[in-house]
Amino acid sequence: MKKSILTGAGLLLILTGCTNITTEQQSVEQTMESGEMQHEENMDMNHGDMEGMEEHMDHDNIPPLQASKGTQELVIPPLLEKQKESDFDYEVVAQEGTTQFFDGSPTNTYGYNGNLLGPTLQLKEGETVKVKVRNELNEPTTFHWHGLEVPGTEDGGPNDVIQPGESKIVTLKADQPAATLWYHPHPHKSTAEQVFKGLAGMLYVEETDEEAPALPHTYGVDDIPLIFQDRLFDENKQLDYKNLMNSDGTIGDVSLVNGTINPKLTVTKPLMRFRILNGANARNYTFRLSNGATFTQIASDGGLLHEPVEMDEITLSPSERAEILIDFSAMESDEPIAITDEEGNALLPFDLDIDGGTEEMESISWTDDTTFLKEEEKSLPVSKEIELFGMMDKVTINGKKFDPERIDLRQKKGVSEVWEVYNKPDEMGGMIHPFHIHGTQFKIISRDGREPAPNEQGLKDSVLIEPGERVRLLVTFPEEGIYMYHCHILEHEDNGMMGQVEVY
Ligand code: C2O
Ligand code: CU
Ligand code: CU
Repeated sequence: MKKSILTGAGLLLILTGCTNITTEQQSVEQTMESGEMQHEENMDMNHGDMEGMEEHMDHDNIPPLQASKGTQELVIPPLLEKQKESDFDYEVVAQEGTTQFFDGSPTNTYGYNGNLLGPTLQLKEGETVKVKVRNELNEPTTFHWHGLEVPGTEDGGPNDVIQPGESKIVTLKADQPAATLWYHPHPHKSTAEQVFKGLAGMLYVEETDEEAPALPHTYGVDDIPLIFQDRLFDENKQLDYKNLMNSDGTIGDVSLVNGTINPKLTVTKPLMRFRILNGANARNYTFRLSNGATFTQIASDGGLLHEPVEMDEITLSPSERAEILIDFSAMESDEPIAITDEEGNALLPFDLDIDGGTEEMESISWTDDTTFLKEEEKSLPVSKEIELFGMMDKVTINGKKFDPERIDLRQKKGVSEVWEVYNKPDEMGGMIHPFHIHGTQFKIISRDGREPAPNEQGLKDSVLIEPGERVRLLVTFPEEGIYMYHCHILEHEDNGMMGQVEVY
C-alpha cells in the first residue's frame, strides 16, 4: 500500500481536533435499542418455555463486567523467541497449567508455552517461517492462524487435528500487509471450551517498508497488545466450561485483559499504540475513554486503514481487531483515565508516568493514494449468498450445519467475488453474528447498500452483522485450499454455524 505521509501539524489536528466524527455506530445503537424493546415482550411471553433451560443471549440478559480495581500491572505476553539450530524457527506448545487469578485456589487453565494465553509471534512482511506446533493437552486440538493468508494446508482449521502428544511443522508465509492477527485452537465442537480455558495468542505481521508511517512500535512500551476477554468462574474459581457454558455464547462478568484480572497500565510515552483484540467467546465490546477524549483508529483486522479515523468509541465483535493511538500528552496525570466499556466500567485504568519526549509526535497521518474500492469492484454482481440464521444449538448457514465431508462453496484463487451475507432475524428479533472467513482479508463493500463507516474502510477478516442486515464483501483468496467461514461466537461455530469453501 502506498501511503503519502504528512508530518507534525497534520498529526496534531487529528489527535486533538474536537469535532467528533459521527460514525454509523450511533444509528446502530438506536436500532439495537428499539430491537431490544420488542425482544423483551417476546421474552416475557415465552418465558414459560425457557424455564430450566439456559437462556438465549439477547441484549437483555448480558451480565455486566466488573470494573477493574487497578491492582495489578497489565501482563504483556512475551515475544516468541526464534529457535537456534533446529529445523524450525518457532515452537508453539498447547499445554495445561494453572493461573492465580484470585487469592487462594489457583484456576486450571490452558496456555501456549505457558499457563495462560500465549507468546506474541512476530513475522515480518514477506517472511516465511517454520513453526513446530505440539499438542501437550489431553485432548485433540488444532493451531489456527486467524487472519493469515496461508494455503489451506497450513491454516489449522478443524480438518487439521493434532492428537495429544503429537506435533507437526507448518510453514507460514506472511505475504500480506502488516497487521495485528491472532492464533487460537479450532477443533470442531471444542473450540469454545479450549479458548475459554485460555488458548489464544497474538500474531503480528510487522512493517518492513521504511516509507511507512512512523507509528509507535516498541513492543510493550508504546506498542501494547490488549486481549479483552470476559470469563465466568464457578464457586471454586474454576473455568468449568461444561457447567458454565451457554450454547448461545458464554458470557462472563469477570473482565480479563491479557489474562490479567483487575489490570492497570503504567503509561510512559505520550503517544501510545494499542492493538486491541476482542478475544471473547461471545461478548461484543464498545470501548471508550473515561474522560471522553477521542482516539485515532489506524488499523482494522488486516492492516492500516485507508486513512486514520478519529473516534470517540469503537465496537468490536468477537475476533475483530483494531489498532488505536491515544495521545496522553494533553491529559492531566491526576485525572483518572481508563479504557471503559459501553456501561462506563473501567476495563483498563491508566497510570500516567510520562518521561517527556514529545518529539516523536510526527508523521502519523496518511491518505492512501489509491481509492479504497474501485468502481468495477463495487459494481460486481453478488456471486455467493450466505444466510446466517438461528440461535443456541439451532444455528445454521444457508439452512445447514457444518459437515466436514461437504464443500459448500468453490472459488477460484486470485479472483475477487462478492459475498452477500444476510443475518436473517427470527421471531425473537435475532442477534449479532460476527462473520469470519479464513484465508482472506476482504473489504466491506456495503452495509444494507450504504458505504461502510470510515473505520471499516480497511482490510477485514471478521465483520459484525446486525440482525436483518445485509453486508456485501469483496473476497479474494490468494492461496488454494479448503477454508472455513463461520460465526465467531465460538459456541455458534461449535454448534455448526460454519461452512467450507474450496479455493482452487
Ligand atoms: Cu478465529 Cu475460524 O477462526
Ligand atoms: Cu480464522
Ligand atoms: Cu452467531
